[in-house]
Amino acid sequence: MVWLGAPLLLPILFLASDVGAAVDLTLLADLRLTEPQRFFLTCVSGEAGVGRGSDAWGAPLLLEKDDRIVRTPPPWQPPHLARNGSHQVTLRGFSQPSDLVGVFSCVGGAGARRTPVVYVHNSPGAHLHPDKVTHTVNKGDTAVLSARVRKEKQMDVIWKSNGSYFSTLDWHEAQDGRFLLRFPDVQPPSSGIYSATYLEASPLGSAFFRLIVRGCEAGRWGPGCTKECPGCLHGGVCHDQDGECVCPPGFTGTRCEQACREGRFGQSCQEQCPGTSGCRGLTFCLPDPYGCSCGSGWRGSQCQEACAPGHFGADCRLRCQCQNGGTCDRFSGCVCPSGWHGVHCEKSDSGDWADGGVSAPVGALG
Ligand SMILES: *[C@@H]1O[C@H](CO)[C@@H](O)[C@H](O)[C@H]1NC(C)=O
Ligand SMILES: *[C@@H]1O[C@H](CO)[C@@H](O)[C@H](O)[C@H]1NC(C)=O
Repeated sequence: MVWLGAPLLLPILFLASDVGAAVDLTLLADLRLTEPQRFFLTCVSGEAGVGRGSDAWGAPLLLEKDDRIVRTPPPWQPPHLARNGSHQVTLRGFSQPSDLVGVFSCVGGAGARRTPVVYVHNSPGAHLHPDKVTHTVNKGDTAVLSARVRKEKQMDVIWKSNGSYFSTLDWHEAQDGRFLLRFPDVQPPSSGIYSATYLEASPLGSAFFRLIVRGCEAGRWGPGCTKECPGCLHGGVCHDQDGECVCPPGFTGTRCEQACREGRFGQSCQEQCPGTSGCRGLTFCLPDPYGCSCGSGWRGSQCQEACAPGHFGADCRLRCQCQNGGTCDRFSGCVCPSGWHGVHCEKSDSGDWADGGVSAPVGALG
């Protein structure tokens, strides 16, 4: 059997992983490590799949600071890039706090599927701090970037987009200790890196953001946005160009319907969070239009807070709505008693649909 199976199976696996699927690439940062000497970024690719560790896929993973928009003083010494096979790279050896501030990107995948993943790092000592760093919105939505005051200065605040002047807010315009930038009916060209800085303050004291505007309205994809998204579950985001769901860390499946085991991530749950505290403290950045989030079960600006009861998923953005005696697990959602299954334990194993079958998308974006 093996003799017959193996030669047939190989080309199929190659094909399956090459058909326009979103690239399996994750850029991780441990937000608890605030000292530059200890901070590091890791980029992991599940792309090698069959030949994991081999060089079969050609182009290597790249991981570097992108100083085209956020320019910081040159490092005393350049950080060090370490490779583990072809599927993992780590960037470490930063020397001063400003080395960490700004935009980092990891590029992976082969040929036409080569894709960047972007992470934006904010200084813990900045005057202004983003309430949320990465925002993914649909075309036509209202986007709001919110910079929270951490060290007050009685000065105006300058917003920049992609490093160029965008607008000014008078210091009296702070609402609830926050300076807001609103984009009603936002359009894809507004995507980019944004910053809020007090006038005359160092750019290092800025709040940095990334805005990702999907090319289509909610629930749509394709050229002309004529196609309907599959209804991505658990906070998965529908890719505007190929209609696939980019699943949050900790979820898998074509509609992100399945939770990985606790502490696991990657498109087939093949990766494991390093260390003993699971995914606590880690931010995960995935290919656009997903952006970045905490791992499943964690929330907060440093991804260190566990979800409140009844909440689960990446950034704890989802609410359990368990039926038939299911209980809420903060990593995976409803855990169903025997005899029941489905996202809300709404389906009976005996085949009788308890409430008519198809469950509504949970926290689907687009
Ligand atoms: C390198 O990757 C392998 C899995 O392929 C993993 O077991 C090992 O821990 C990694 N080494 C480091 C230093 O991360
Ligand atoms: C920022 O730069 C990106 C990439 O070059 C571009 O697609 C986007 O439209 C720019 N956004 C703004 C607001 O200038």
